[in-house]
Amino acid sequence: AGKVKVSFVCENCGASFGQWWGNCRSCSASGTLKKFLEPEVNKLRGIDVSEAVARAWLPQHAGRLVPQSLAEVNKDRDPSEWRIPLSGHFGTEVGRVLGGGIVPGSLVLVGGDPGVGKSTLLLQMAAIIAQGFNRKEPAPVVYVSGEESIEQIGNRADRMRITTGNLYLYSSTDIEDILDKIKPLSPEALIIDSIQTVYLRGIAGSAGNIVQVKECTSTLLRFAKQTNIPVLLIGHVTKTGDIAGPRILEHIVDAVLYMEGESYSTYRLLRSVKNRFGSTDELGVFEMTESGLQAVSDPSNMFLTEQNSDSEILAGIAVAVVVDGSRAFVIEVQALCVSGSSAARHVNGIQQSRSDMIISVLMKQAGLKLQDNAIFLNVVSGFKLTETAGDLAIAAAICSSFLEFPIPNDVAFIGEVGLGGELRTVPRMDKRVVAIAKLGYKKCIVPKTAEKTLASLNLDIRVLGCRNLKEVINTVF
Ligand code: TYD
Ligand code: MG
Repeated sequence: AGKVKVSFVCENCGASFGQWWGNCRSCSASGTLKKFLEPEVNKLRGIDVSEAVARAWLPQHAGRLVPQSLAEVNKDRDPSEWRIPLSGHFGTEVGRVLGGGIVPGSLVLVGGDPGVGKSTLLLQMAAIIAQGFNRKEPAPVVYVSGEESIEQIGNRADRMRITTGNLYLYSSTDIEDILDKIKPLSPEALIIDSIQTVYLRGIAGSAGNIVQVKECTSTLLRFAKQTNIPVLLIGHVTKTGDIAGPRILEHIVDAVLYMEGESYSTYRLLRSVKNRFGSTDELGVFEMTESGLQAVSDPSNMFLTEQNSDSEILAGIAVAVVVDGSRAFVIEVQALCVSGSSAARHVNGIQQSRSDMIISVLMKQAGLKLQDNAIFLNVVSGFKLTETAGDLAIAAAICSSFLEFPIPNDVAFIGEVGLGGELRTVPRMDKRVVAIAKLGYKKCIVPKTAEKTLASLNLDIRVLGCRNLKEVINTVF
């Protein structure tokens, strides 16, 4: 009889090693490796247990399944049925982020900070699917919560005026129990709120621990694939944006949606960060109201400070045009330069390294004496300006505040700023200019190289090309 093999398993990421390390070689966490004997490791990692739970969902004659030709697979299927449609304003917005609806048998993770509105979002989606628009027979949907009692969810649904009798609520944290109980309903979709509260019996550790989270997710994935029932999973996220801490969940699931919003704002953004069935550049915009989330169909205006047409125009405000997913919209960048104080920089919604660069370029290449100024930068409505297309608007906002010269509110700025102060074109210039022309903007400042092409579009907007920041300052201020 040989020695029993020993393994060291990381409590943080679940990786296992043949020897002990002070820092996990997989996730770098320190002091997380624990010693296990080999038979325990299998149990710990849920190899036995989750297989067994999932096996209950195998089709009757799984062993006799053979590969099928594509034509055979799609023979009786109407292409419009390949996704579960989501109707209405709200549903269309969510559906677009998902790439056109929910794919049967898919596992979708919806992440976000606690309190951002994940439960609200999923309850509304559940209601829409349960109402079964476009379908002869409305199908049941099960919403399982490990965080709230069914009375609490019921109250919430009541406030949101959800009345469908096809929505089933269940409060449980035991995955086996959940899958057993919903089996007789064969629902159209299953919602689990949240992955951090459910557990598999027989796996070491309590709910929320990384091995539990990983194995529960794998079990739900197998369940989804075997039953063709889509599973929507809520996951709490840490501020850094990693779902459940380590990113292993993102690899397991088919799609990851991430809900963002600032606590002071009622706007919520839904972003697709991974999607096996669609694009990942889609962005949904919602507003949290008393009766749940409402789609914002024209997000352009929401990012602007409410400005009365007759009120005074403030210095330090410039409009950028961003493209996210299939839409272009306008966002407002605010700058405040305070002279005579420390040279502090306070930045919100813009990458600090980007704004530092733009400030330095304004000083060096455009001659702005910003060195004795404290500079505050802010992007309205909690939007994060990540595209370099916003550089020019950032620069313009700073100039406007520094020179105390308000920019007329029908002017928009599009362009990247280089280290030499030169303006560079950015992708989809035409889409951006078309969008602002439609919104009634009268003038837009763009890089010189893009001017001709844009002018030839014959839009109802003046396109002004500039080579560098100096020219912008001479043109606008
Ligand atoms: P919730 O969906 O519970 O967030 P999460 O599941 O991400 O933790 O909702 C969070 C907040 O939304 C909560 O503080 C109350 C607010 N809210 C509304 O403003 N209107 C509503 O209709 C609902 C249901 C919630
Ligand atoms: Mg919740």
